[in-house]
Amino acid sequence: MKEKIAKLIEQAKLAVEQSHTLAFINNVKVKFLGKNGELTQLLRGMKDVPQEERPMVGKYVNEARDLITELTEEKTRQLAQAEIDEKMMKESVDITLDGKNTERGSLHPCTLVANEIVDIFTSLGFTLGEGPEIELDKFCFQMLNIPPDHPARDMQDTFYITDDILLRTHTSSVQARTMINTKPPIRIICPGKVYRPDDDATHSPMFQQIEGLVVDEKVTLCDLKGLLETFAQRLFDSSTKVRFRPSFFPFTEPSVEVDLSCSVCHGKGCRICKGTGWIEILGAGVVNPKVLDNCGIDSKKYKGLAFGLGVERVAMIKYGIPDMRILFENDVRFLKDFK
Ligand code: DAH
Repeated sequence: MKEKIAKLIEQAKLAVEQSHTLAFINNVKVKFLGKNGELTQLLRGMKDVPQEERPMVGKYVNEARDLITELTEEKTRQLAQAEIDEKMMKESVDITLDGKNTERGSLHPCTLVANEIVDIFTSLGFTLGEGPEIELDKFCFQMLNIPPDHPARDMQDTFYITDDILLRTHTSSVQARTMINTKPPIRIICPGKVYRPDDDATHSPMFQQIEGLVVDEKVTLCDLKGLLETFAQRLFDSSTKVRFRPSFFPFTEPSVEVDLSCSVCHGKGCRICKGTGWIEILGAGVVNPKVLDNCGIDSKKYKGLAFGLGVERVAMIKYGIPDMRILFENDVRFLKDFK
């Protein structure tokens, strides 16, 4: 019996040594220590062992079980660790490799300028107004005191879709839309795209405007000047001056063109202001009472102030861009300057 046990231990040692996978060592465990394993089989032979030798043989069997258990468990630990090590090797990340570069975009200079202008007016109590780019003739022209066949239509070449539907030529259409739906007081600022069939260094068939409208009981041209001065000084710098020149728009009376003192040369005269010291950036005026009445607002009780400006033009002045077309080419090298 003793030799049998010693032989079994030798066999087990060899089997453990030859185990190279966890599955294999598991089989070895079952083969030697399992319910029907070799050691159990040996124990069954105990009945043939003489009585006096049994305690001794029992001790050998127990020692053999402990030894084989220890050997298989140690091997199991080694194999499990080896498996983890191998996995770590396979899945290791080479941190010296170059990463994938994802370029960060930036806002377009026109968007930056439009956001800045809207921010200035919202900080002065204006709210955002909106209207469609595909517009009815009614809102774009008629309610703004430009009836069909009126010569004032020549001021704005128009893309017509049908006789009544067009691509809006200005954001002033939002004035009419807002006034028919809103009770005064009104203070809105409306950025948006507008369309006209012009295309050269200072015109594009699509461009952006920002419209402003105030309707209240006691507002005057002086308020308009103060408002636009505050705006201009926040957009450029606190030394910026505002000049009104008489003009004509069918929807305002009186109407003015608004010039700002040149932010580049501060009035001395330079390339940007074409030597005049002034830059024209807005059309504005006191809303024509006919427009208020057309939109259902009592022109005896209320007055309106309105203004409109071109976003591209302001961006060109603010960033010293000589040709409007650069703003539409979207050359990444140019756009990167605005990060
Ligand atoms: N809508 C005019 C244009 O596109 C700009 C303008 C002028 C808007 C005077 C106004 C205004 O609100 O009062 O040329």
